Amino acid sequence: MVYVTRRVTFSAAHRLFNPRWSEEQNWAVFDKCANPNGHGHNYVLEVTVAGIPDPETGYVLDLKLLARLIEEEILSKVDHKHLNHDVDFLQGVNPTVENLAVAFWRILEQKLPAGRLHAVRVYESENNYAEYRGEPIPIHHNGMSHIAATATGE
Ligand code: NI
Repeated sequence: MVYVTRRVTFSAAHRLFNPRWSEEQNWAVFDKCANPNGHGHNYVLEVTVAGIPDPETGYVLDLKLLARLIEEEILSKVDHKHLNHDVDFLQGVNPTVENLAVAFWRILEQKLPAGRLHAVRVYESENNYAEYRGEPIPIHHNGMSHIAATATGE
Protein backbone atom coordinates (compact mmCIF):
# COMPACT_ATOMS: atom_id res chain seq x y z
CA MET A 1 0.00 0.00 0.00
CA VAL A 2 1.21 3.50 -0.81
CA TYR A 3 0.08 6.62 1.03
CA VAL A 4 -0.18 9.97 -0.72
CA THR A 5 -0.94 13.24 1.02
CA ARG A 6 -2.29 16.60 -0.06
CA ARG A 7 -1.46 19.48 2.28
CA VAL A 8 -3.38 22.78 2.26
CA THR A 9 -3.66 25.78 4.55
CA PHE A 10 -6.55 27.98 5.56
CA SER A 11 -7.27 30.71 8.05
CA ALA A 12 -10.41 30.87 10.14
CA ALA A 13 -11.89 32.14 13.37
CA HIS A 14 -13.45 29.93 16.00
CA ARG A 15 -14.70 29.88 19.54
CA LEU A 16 -14.31 26.81 21.72
CA PHE A 17 -17.20 26.81 24.14
CA ASN A 18 -19.39 24.42 26.11
CA PRO A 19 -22.82 26.01 26.70
CA ARG A 20 -23.43 23.75 29.71
CA TRP A 21 -20.50 25.38 31.53
CA SER A 22 -20.01 28.72 33.22
CA GLU A 23 -17.91 31.43 31.61
CA GLU A 24 -15.22 30.71 34.19
CA GLN A 25 -15.10 27.03 33.35
CA ASN A 26 -14.96 27.75 29.62
CA TRP A 27 -12.03 30.10 30.14
CA ALA A 28 -10.31 27.60 32.41
CA VAL A 29 -10.51 24.83 29.81
CA PHE A 30 -10.35 26.66 26.47
CA ASP A 31 -8.35 29.73 27.48
CA LYS A 32 -8.07 32.27 24.64
CA CYS A 33 -10.03 29.98 22.33
CA ALA A 34 -13.08 30.78 24.54
CA ASN A 35 -13.00 34.46 23.56
CA PRO A 36 -16.70 35.41 23.10
CA ASN A 37 -16.19 36.94 19.67
CA GLY A 38 -13.83 34.21 18.52
CA HIS A 39 -10.21 34.42 17.48
CA GLY A 40 -8.14 33.22 14.57
CA HIS A 41 -5.84 30.37 13.64
CA ASN A 42 -3.77 29.53 10.59
CA TYR A 43 -4.75 25.92 10.03
CA VAL A 44 -3.02 23.19 8.07
CA LEU A 45 -5.05 20.30 6.67
CA GLU A 46 -3.35 17.12 5.46
CA VAL A 47 -5.42 14.48 3.69
CA THR A 48 -3.80 11.06 3.18
CA VAL A 49 -5.15 8.49 0.73
CA ALA A 50 -3.99 4.86 0.58
CA GLY A 51 -3.92 2.67 -2.50
CA ILE A 52 -1.95 0.74 -5.06
CA PRO A 53 -0.31 2.82 -7.80
CA ASP A 54 -2.18 2.46 -11.08
CA PRO A 55 0.00 0.55 -13.60
CA GLU A 56 -0.66 3.12 -16.32
CA THR A 57 -0.27 6.36 -14.37
CA GLY A 58 1.80 5.32 -11.37
CA TYR A 59 -0.69 7.28 -9.25
CA VAL A 60 -2.64 6.09 -6.21
CA LEU A 61 -4.97 8.88 -7.23
CA ASP A 62 -4.51 12.02 -9.26
CA LEU A 63 -3.58 14.62 -6.64
CA LYS A 64 -5.10 17.31 -8.84
CA LEU A 65 -8.47 15.67 -8.28
CA LEU A 66 -7.89 15.44 -4.53
CA ALA A 67 -6.80 19.09 -4.47
CA ARG A 68 -9.97 20.09 -6.32
CA LEU A 69 -12.16 18.05 -3.96
CA ILE A 70 -10.59 19.64 -0.88
CA GLU A 71 -10.94 23.10 -2.41
CA GLU A 72 -14.58 22.70 -3.38
CA GLU A 73 -15.87 20.79 -0.38
CA ILE A 74 -13.81 22.25 2.47
CA LEU A 75 -11.63 25.27 1.73
CA SER A 76 -14.34 27.22 -0.07
CA LYS A 77 -16.50 26.82 3.04
CA VAL A 78 -14.01 27.39 5.87
CA ASP A 79 -11.23 29.68 4.61
CA HIS A 80 -11.51 33.14 6.20
CA LYS A 81 -14.81 32.19 7.84
CA HIS A 82 -16.00 31.90 11.43
CA LEU A 83 -16.21 28.15 11.98
CA ASN A 84 -18.97 28.40 14.60
CA HIS A 85 -21.28 30.54 12.49
CA ASP A 86 -20.51 30.33 8.79
CA VAL A 87 -20.04 26.64 8.02
CA ASP A 88 -23.12 24.51 7.43
CA PHE A 89 -21.50 21.19 8.29
CA LEU A 90 -20.10 22.52 11.60
CA GLN A 91 -23.34 23.86 13.02
CA GLY A 92 -23.52 22.89 16.69
CA VAL A 93 -20.03 21.39 16.68
CA ASN A 94 -17.35 22.68 19.05
CA PRO A 95 -14.63 23.40 16.46
CA THR A 96 -11.60 21.77 18.05
CA VAL A 97 -9.02 20.26 15.70
CA GLU A 98 -10.36 16.87 16.78
CA ASN A 99 -13.88 17.69 15.65
CA LEU A 100 -12.68 19.41 12.48
CA ALA A 101 -10.70 16.32 11.48
CA VAL A 102 -13.78 14.13 11.90
CA ALA A 103 -16.07 16.55 10.06
CA PHE A 104 -13.65 16.87 7.14
CA TRP A 105 -13.24 13.08 7.00
CA ARG A 106 -16.96 12.54 6.67
CA ILE A 107 -17.18 14.91 3.73
CA LEU A 108 -14.10 13.67 1.89
CA GLU A 109 -14.81 9.96 2.37
CA GLN A 110 -18.07 10.25 0.45
CA LYS A 111 -16.52 11.90 -2.60
CA LEU A 112 -13.01 10.50 -2.87
CA PRO A 113 -12.33 9.82 -6.59
CA ALA A 114 -9.93 6.90 -6.03
CA GLY A 115 -8.07 5.05 -3.29
CA ARG A 116 -9.15 4.73 0.34
CA LEU A 117 -9.15 7.63 2.76
CA HIS A 118 -6.47 6.86 5.36
CA ALA A 119 -6.07 9.93 7.57
CA VAL A 120 -7.23 13.51 7.97
CA ARG A 121 -4.86 15.64 10.01
CA VAL A 122 -5.68 19.19 11.15
CA TYR A 123 -3.06 21.51 12.66
CA GLU A 124 -4.20 24.51 14.68
CA SER A 125 -0.66 25.63 15.39
CA GLU A 126 2.79 24.49 14.46
CA ASN A 127 2.97 21.94 17.24
CA ASN A 128 -0.64 20.87 17.86
CA TYR A 129 -2.70 18.68 15.58
CA ALA A 130 -5.36 16.01 15.58
CA GLU A 131 -5.55 13.04 13.23
CA TYR A 132 -8.64 10.97 12.46
CA ARG A 133 -8.53 7.63 10.68
CA GLY A 134 -12.21 6.85 10.42
CA GLU A 135 -12.89 4.68 13.42
CA PRO A 136 -16.54 5.10 14.53
CA ILE A 137 -16.83 7.41 17.52
CA PRO A 138 -19.73 9.26 19.17
CA ILE A 139 -20.55 12.77 18.01
CA HIS A 140 -21.24 15.56 20.49
CA HIS A 141 -23.00 18.69 19.41
CA ASN A 142 -23.15 21.69 21.67
CA GLY A 143 -26.41 21.73 23.57
CA MET A 144 -27.42 18.35 22.19
CA SER A 145 -25.62 15.10 21.92
CA HIS A 146 -26.38 12.00 19.95
CA ILE A 147 -24.62 9.06 18.44
CA ALA A 148 -24.09 9.10 14.69
CA ALA A 149 -22.95 6.18 12.60
CA THR A 150 -19.54 7.50 11.69
CA ALA A 151 -19.04 10.44 13.80
CA THR A 152 -17.27 12.88 15.96
CA GLY A 153 -15.79 13.44 19.38
CA GLU A 154 -14.50 16.30 21.44
NI1 NI B 1 -8.39 28.95 19.20
